[in-house]
Amino acid sequence: MIKNKIAIIGAGSVGATIAYNLSNRGLANEMVLVDVNREKAEAEVLDITHGMPLGSTANIYAAGYEACGDAEIAIITAGAKQRPDESRVQLMDRNVGIMRSMVGDLMASGFGGVILVVTNPVDVLTFVAYRESGLPAHQVIGSGTVIDSARLRTFLSRSCSINPQNVHGYVIGEHGDTSFPAWSNVTFGGVGVQEFCQDCDAGCGDDELRRQATEYVRQAAQTIIKAKGSTYYAVAQAVAIITQAVLRDERRILPITAVMSGFEDFREVAFSYPHFVGKNGIATDAGINGRLRYELTAEEQEQLRTSIRYIIGNTEQAGY
Ligand code: 2OP
Repeated sequence: MIKNKIAIIGAGSVGATIAYNLSNRGLANEMVLVDVNREKAEAEVLDITHGMPLGSTANIYAAGYEACGDAEIAIITAGAKQRPDESRVQLMDRNVGIMRSMVGDLMASGFGGVILVVTNPVDVLTFVAYRESGLPAHQVIGSGTVIDSARLRTFLSRSCSINPQNVHGYVIGEHGDTSFPAWSNVTFGGVGVQEFCQDCDAGCGDDELRRQATEYVRQAAQTIIKAKGSTYYAVAQAVAIITQAVLRDERRILPITAVMSGFEDFREVAFSYPHFVGKNGIATDAGINGRLRYELTAEEQEQLRTSIRYIIGNTEQAGY
């Protein structure tokens, strides 16, 4: 029976903001917030609940993993967070063990839905969750570069004075320093960047625009972390649209972290690439086993190989 139930594991700034975002969207009939610090989880639930008479209502409560078994989706956010000047990958040693433990407890509850990993490094940890859960690959996804792609659209929208809803394109590969915009597929209202730049008198030129945009995306999180300690609003939005695509079986194309093979060394590895997202996680009946047929230039293919090799190195260092 479809319960429309969401489990959020981790009541830190990211998990709590996701819970608040989702409760405002009225997406689920039921939401459970799980944290080792039950008092913290209960306080976040209380704070969200007090606003409900003034906005959207949701049945949200704090509980243990035993309450996750019948959820359609489990969003995993708990873990150590980046310190200023610390890369996402440097979190790996601290978070691999935490991820193993969380997935073990989640699966012990009888969970059989979609796992959505947010904890960084999200590429490696999505793969850890996949292997430790025993679930099919299409059911274990990560928030990946959905947020990076939104940051790219924000930068281009501001640089080129165009509504962000008309900027389309994806950042792919690692959710980290080896990510890159697949520029050959970035469009403004369907018009490629090079053509668009011909009609624009800003004079930045498409090469410089591409360089600045790529740098902006890669540095965005660190800029925020240095100033306020962590990011959570935009990533909560990214998680909310992925969750909505799952709960409503939207078959929405999103650059989520997915487990794929056949790219490098023909081993399975998790990285971000545009996929159709629906009720079972990846809608494997769409595109190429759920993946968008996304043509890349030779240069972009090399950038992707570099990013994948970097992720494979970290995944193997994590013991997978
Ligand atoms: C972000 O990109 C830190 O991965 C997080 O905002």
